[in-house]
Amino acid sequence: MIAWKEDYEVGIDVVDSQHKELFVIAGKAFDLLKNEFVTDKYDAMVEILEELKDYAAFHFETEEKYLEETGFKKLFSHKMEHAAFLQEIEAIDLEELDENQEEHMMRILQFIVNWIDRHILEKDQQFAVK
Ligand SMILES: [Fe+2]
Repeated sequence: MIAWKEDYEVGIDVVDSQHKELFVIAGKAFDLLKNEFVTDKYDAMVEILEELKDYAAFHFETEEKYLEETGFKKLFSHKMEHAAFLQEIEAIDLEELDENQEEHMMRILQFIVNWIDRHILEKDQQFAVK
């Protein structure tokens, strides 16, 4: 369900490898969600969300720097997309997550995976060099 695929490739090594890492982190969240032996998943979920947010911020910075250097014309709107994603993650209601862990985490994960999928396929492909 959560895996990098060739369609995501943009042909810029550093971007592709960072995109792969985003899927690895999302995969951790999915594995945790499926794990029936852990009853209270709150701390682990918060930790993964933190990791995802930090890594996404680091990745966006790398990507934006590359786009700046190469004179990508849609840089401003691309940056806005990145910022909106980080804001969404920042705005996650942790109290609600704690109260309704499985359901809320599933919704969050769905948002994250859909966003990354669509962003890479529609937006990042605009600067692909393959
Ligand atoms: Fe991007």
